[in-house]
Amino acid sequence: MSVRRIRTLLQKFAALAALAVVLASSAGCGWTRLNYPQTSLTPTSDYARDIDTILNQQVFWVVVIFVLVQGMIIVTVLRFRARPGAPDPKPVHGNTALEIAWTIAPAIILALVAVPTVETIYRTQAPAAKGALQVNVIGHQWWWEFQYPELGITTASELHVPAGRTVNVAITTADVLHSFWFPAIGGKRDAIPTHTNYMWFKPDSLGVFMGQCAELCGTSHANMRMRLFVETPEQFEAWVAHQKQPATDPDSVTNAAAWQGRKVWGDQICFTCHTVNGVENAVGIVGPNLTHVGSRTAIAGSIYPNDAEHLAKWISNAPAAKPGSLMPNLGLNDEQVKALVAYLQSLK
Ligand code: CUA
Repeated sequence: MSVRRIRTLLQKFAALAALAVVLASSAGCGWTRLNYPQTSLTPTSDYARDIDTILNQQVFWVVVIFVLVQGMIIVTVLRFRARPGAPDPKPVHGNTALEIAWTIAPAIILALVAVPTVETIYRTQAPAAKGALQVNVIGHQWWWEFQYPELGITTASELHVPAGRTVNVAITTADVLHSFWFPAIGGKRDAIPTHTNYMWFKPDSLGVFMGQCAELCGTSHANMRMRLFVETPEQFEAWVAHQKQPATDPDSVTNAAAWQGRKVWGDQICFTCHTVNGVENAVGIVGPNLTHVGSRTAIAGSIYPNDAEHLAKWISNAPAAKPGSLMPNLGLNDEQVKALVAYLQSLK
């Protein structure tokens, strides 16, 4: 390889590294408010810590084996290398003690890896402990629905749970295969049509965690994100109490824009796809439940911040904002969009 070619390659590498830094810094700023990176290397639940322990054990054995094997190769190469004038080495084969040793040693190492792994699999796949918080997770193209059957709450894209209590999620899908995955919380679990998968975890660290669909599910698979809010029990109770409230219709005097938007909502039959608890006929289940959409931090499968600018962008042409979006372009004019944004923002 010529020096020139190496230099070109280095320049390309530097450009890519610079791009990565720019992307990372833009992802980390402002609206995301994430406390943890989307990685399984920062475990924050019992389940994730169990997996992490096994990973650490395996890395330990891999390092031991690597050092031993490489050490033996280096010693062999240095000590037994060909020297000028030295006779050919005597061929050796059929050393019984050696054969037994290198059969038993890997068997012991494999047992040291397999026993804790199998034990952890059985423990973490067992049914959740009694008293766990039940959450039904339903994958949709391309957003996540969360139902709390015992609390009568349905929400989307943002899962709230209290720290220190086991959460039992029952995972399924409304359409195609998806996979539920909060890397910091534990392993992936597939969402399979006509089948329910379970997973439980006890979160132990407060914060906001990023999750991602982990099964290719169509055009906007990469845009099927979600957030996990691990809160204190008091914060969680307050959230539950708030979510249980039906939506209040905006007042025509104090919030004329939202009141206007409420009319657009009716004219555009948004209610055929979306539920807003407390609003007549608004019982659609094709799209996310919008009862408290104004209190969420993000929209469109957690890919845009929930602010007026992005809501407007989304409502005016959803497929342009998110490829393949099942929410159609409704062909609204600017005035209608503005009014709808005000209405959605009023649904705190
Ligand atoms: Cu849902 Cu990928």
